[in-house]
Amino acid sequence: MAQKLAFLLALQVLAASAAVTSFTFGQDIDYPPYASKNATTGELTGFGVELVKAMNAHCSATLNITVVETRWSNCWSSAGGGTLGALLEDGTLDACMTYTHTQGIRNDYADFSYGILDVNKAAGLLTLLENGMPKLDGHSDLNGKTIVDVGGWAPTADGLDFVTNKCLNQKYSSNYTLVVGNGNDEAMTMLRNGSADAMFVYADQAKNYQCDGSTVAAWDCALWQGFGTEYAYVQTGQFGYVVNGTTLALSKKGSGVPEAINSCLAEVMATEAYYDACVKYDLVDSCYANSFFPSSGIVIHEYNKETDEHAGDCSSGYCPCPSTSTPTTQTSLATGLSIKALMGATLSFLVAVLL
Ligand SMILES: *[C@@H]1O[C@H](CO)[C@@H](O)[C@H](O)[C@H]1NC(C)=O
Ligand SMILES: *[C@@H]1O[C@H](CO)[C@@H](O)[C@H](O)[C@H]1NC(C)=O
Ligand SMILES: *[C@@H]1O[C@H](CO)[C@@H](O)[C@H](O)[C@H]1NC(C)=O
Ligand SMILES: *[C@@H]1O[C@H](CO)[C@@H](O)[C@H](O)[C@H]1NC(C)=O
Ligand SMILES: *[C@@H]1O[C@H](CO)[C@@H](O)[C@H](O)[C@H]1NC(C)=O
Repeated sequence: MAQKLAFLLALQVLAASAAVTSFTFGQDIDYPPYASKNATTGELTGFGVELVKAMNAHCSATLNITVVETRWSNCWSSAGGGTLGALLEDGTLDACMTYTHTQGIRNDYADFSYGILDVNKAAGLLTLLENGMPKLDGHSDLNGKTIVDVGGWAPTADGLDFVTNKCLNQKYSSNYTLVVGNGNDEAMTMLRNGSADAMFVYADQAKNYQCDGSTVAAWDCALWQGFGTEYAYVQTGQFGYVVNGTTLALSKKGSGVPEAINSCLAEVMATEAYYDACVKYDLVDSCYANSFFPSSGIVIHEYNKETDEHAGDCSSGYCPCPSTSTPTTQTSLATGLSIKALMGATLSFLVAVLL
C-alpha cells in the first residue's frame, strides 16, 4: 500500500514537472491556402495554422506551438543546390510549416513531421499559350528545352529527374537546361519573357495565385492573370518527387521536433476538427481521410488529376494530352515523336526482358 502510494506520488511529481514543450514554428504568407495572412485582421492563417490551433487545444498538457511570420528563405534556401535557412540553422525557429516532404536534397539537412495532407501535392509543367495552344506540348520530352524551377520551393530542382511525362508515361530526357527563378514570381517572369520554355511548379500554384482579396497577396497578382488564356499546365499529377504530402514541420536534422509532435498530430488528424479544417480551406480531396469524411462524393480538383484526365482544351488552365489524330502539321509532328517515343519504350522493354 505504502509502495503504491509512493509510486502514485512519484507519478504525480513526474506529470507536474513534465513541463509543456514549447516550440516556435515559422511560416511565410505567400502560399494560400496553406500559409497566408488574413487581409482583414492581419492574423496568420492557412491550413498549417489551423492544425497548430487544433493541436494546442488537443495536447495542451504537453505542447504549446507558437506560429510566427518569417520568410521562406529563413527556412530553406535554394543556394548551392539547396540548404537549410539561417533561422532553422541557428535555432531561432524550431520548424517551418507546410513544406512538402520531397525526395532528394532536403533530406540531407532536414527532418519532416508526418504529412498533414495526403501524398497528392503534385507537380506540373506550366507553359505559355499561343492562340490557345501550348508552346511546349504535353508530349515534349524536354530535349533541348530550358526549364525554370522555383527556387526555395518544392518541387526542388532535382525533382524533375524523379517525375514522369504523364502523356507518354516516360521519364524526361536528361538533355534539358535547368534555370532557377528566385520564387514563384521571378520564375513566372522568366517563363513569360522567354527565358524558359516551361516552369516546373506545384500543379495548384496558378489556381492558388488567383487573387480574391481575402488574404494578403504577397505576390504579383497581375503576373498570374491569364490562367487558361496566356498560360496553362501541359502536365499535372507528377508525384515521383515526394515522400509524403504537405507536412506540419520541416526542422533541422536531428532536432527531434517531428518525434515531439507526431503523436499529437496523428491524434488530431483523426478528429472532426481535422475534417473541418479540410473543408474550410477547400482541401478535402487533398486530406488524409478519417472517419468524419464522407465515404463518397468528394470532388477532385483539376490540379489533383493526371494530365490524361483533363478534357476539352487549355482554357481551364489544364491542357489535356495532345490529340494524336488531328491531321495538322503540328500534331503529326507530335504523333511522329510519340510513335518514336513508344518505339523507344518498346525497345527498352525488350532489352529489359532480354537482360
Ligand atoms: C504558449 O507560448 C506562448 C509564447 O511563449 C505564450 O505566450 C502562451 O501563454 C503559451 N500558452 C500556454 C497555454 O501555455
Ligand atoms: C506520412 O504522413 C502520414 C499521415 O500523417 C503518416 O501516417 C505517415 O507515417 C507519413 N509517412 C512518412 C514516411 O513520414
Ligand atoms: C541537347 O540540347 C541541345 C540544345 O540545348 C541541342 O543542341 C542538342 O542537339 C541536344 N542533344 C541531343 C543528343 O539531342
Ligand atoms: C527575363 O526575366 C528575368 C527575371 O526577371 C531577367 O533576369 C531576364 O533578364 C529577363 N530576360 C529577358 C530576355 O527579358
Ligand atoms: C479573416 O478574418 C475575418 C474575421 O475574423 C473572417 O471573417 C474571415 O473569414 C477571415 N478570412 C479568411 C480568408 O480567413
